[in-house]
Amino acid sequence: MSGGDVMLSLSGVFAGYGGGDVLQGVEFEVYKGGITCIVGPNGAGKSTLLATITGLLKPRLGEVHLNGESIGGLSPRAVLSRGVVLVPQNHSLFPDMTVYENVELGAYTLKDRQLARERLEKIAEMFPVVRAKGKEKAGSLSGGQQRLVEFARCLMLDPSLVILDEPSMGLDPRTLHDVFATVRAMNQEGRTILLVEQNAKAGLKASSHGVVLENGKVRLRGTGREVLDHPEIAALYLGGSVEAPSGVK
Ligand SMILES: Nc1ncnc2c1ncn2[C@@H]1O[C@H](COP(=O)(O)OP(=O)(O)OP(=O)(O)O)[C@@H](O)[C@H]1O
Ligand SMILES: [Mg+2]
Repeated sequence: MSGGDVMLSLSGVFAGYGGGDVLQGVEFEVYKGGITCIVGPNGAGKSTLLATITGLLKPRLGEVHLNGESIGGLSPRAVLSRGVVLVPQNHSLFPDMTVYENVELGAYTLKDRQLARERLEKIAEMFPVVRAKGKEKAGSLSGGQQRLVEFARCLMLDPSLVILDEPSMGLDPRTLHDVFATVRAMNQEGRTILLVEQNAKAGLKASSHGVVLENGKVRLRGTGREVLDHPEIAALYLGGSVEAPSGVK
């Protein structure tokens, strides 16, 4: 599976935090209805790339297009209103609020309360943990359960593009399985997925398309299978050509 309608495209994107560019001319596409997986070593600029797509960082140069519209430099709120949500790399629930309250917060920009209630109902069906633990404090859940609640929360705005930064980080194999199953379920509902995965093999296997980012540049892109089978990628993940991340982690 390759080609198809492009939902998101980046061309010649340079961006950073003031101390020079982290992203150095990034180019790739995210296809509508697919799952695109970004892999690459620590410090390659993967989270920076997601921040640039979602409006948290402004590209210094280059173009970001969503459904043909230029969105580079729009505010995070404006990008969100176009149906793009990000589940960040670090846990982002409010630990002292209940699971239900956390999920409801996902709809904070939604004026229609009735619609928010309906969505919460539907989401609780898709995520049994939301119903089972709804009245418990989010901080009392396991890491994997919290991840699923974060997914649930991001669906409250009915996004067309769901961006996940290292969703499987720190999870045991069983929970990892649940997280990937949920990613597929969100995709089967018609949502396009862009994810960053540290677990390159599992991530690429679950994805229609793959992108390898190294030192702020796209080193390789193709179908998930092509990237997985590429000899250089095997070398990369056996430690062969991974360069030490620049900057302090
Ligand atoms: N808020 C920030 N301010 C300044 N520099 C930053 C900031 N966030 C990241 N960096 C630097 O930008 C570079 C890329 O970081 P980034 O977090 O995008 O990498 P990553 O590929 O997501 O890594 P990881 O796999 O560890 O999550 C690193 O050198 C990092 O130190
Ligand atoms: Mg990161």
